[in-house]
Amino acid sequence: MAAVTRTPFIAGNWKMNLDHLQAIAFVQKLAWSLQDAKHDFDAVEVAVFPPFTDLRSVQTLVSADKLPLGYGAQDVSAQDSGAFTGEISGAFLSQLECGYVIIGHSERRTLHNETDDVVHAKTAAALKHGVTPVICVGETAEDLEKHGSSAVPVAQLRAALEGVASDADVVVAYEPVWAIGSGQAATPDQAEQVAAALRTVITESLGEDAAGRTRILYGGSVKSGNIAGFMREPNVDGALVGGASLDVTEFSNIARYQKHVGV
Ligand code: PGA
Repeated sequence: MAAVTRTPFIAGNWKMNLDHLQAIAFVQKLAWSLQDAKHDFDAVEVAVFPPFTDLRSVQTLVSADKLPLGYGAQDVSAQDSGAFTGEISGAFLSQLECGYVIIGHSERRTLHNETDDVVHAKTAAALKHGVTPVICVGETAEDLEKHGSSAVPVAQLRAALEGVASDADVVVAYEPVWAIGSGQAATPDQAEQVAAALRTVITESLGEDAAGRTRILYGGSVKSGNIAGFMREPNVDGALVGGASLDVTEFSNIARYQKHVGV
């Protein structure tokens, strides 16, 4: 597996924060801040995941100003179209040139009862519409105590990847539920152990090539002060950042981890 071929990916999950006007100001500032700092976007990819209502504004801004930032949605319907009030089709995301969509975030699994089957169906829907799924997996504190760290994320990823084509483009985010928004991040070593187990799942489900090129992110209380430790791990290829992605300076410092900490 050639780790060098995976471009590090720093993704900002805004959750239900920033309306479309705030999104425009934020994305402009983020792009300026990174460009000012001469960030090499080919070396470390950066993307934001705003609420649905912001996406059209972000698309317009990114395309008009040719900003080197990616963007995606935080969820997608498993259905293509029809009588599904409140749902958003992958076809709509594709029309908005979303490169990515987060699927199965723990908040959706917990608050919206998204099962592994739902996550599997949404992964298939994203791929069908040419949007790269960012598949989130992770154990709760209780799972950790009962089953150790990898059993639950491994089972969740296996379920999500069932029937996925071996040449599909997916991103995996390992987010221990106990680390999300808690200020208590996993250690780089913990993240690496689970990321390695997840890479084995990708090998089994999609083959060696896919395992070599698929990016596995760590998420859960990532900030500029701890990102470098995660990025030093061979199987961690980036981060899915929640709270710290809402602060332009902090998020750009995370994206620029190679510079400010001399990794
Ligand atoms: P956090 O959230 O960085 O605020 O812990 C991460 C996430 O939920 O994706």
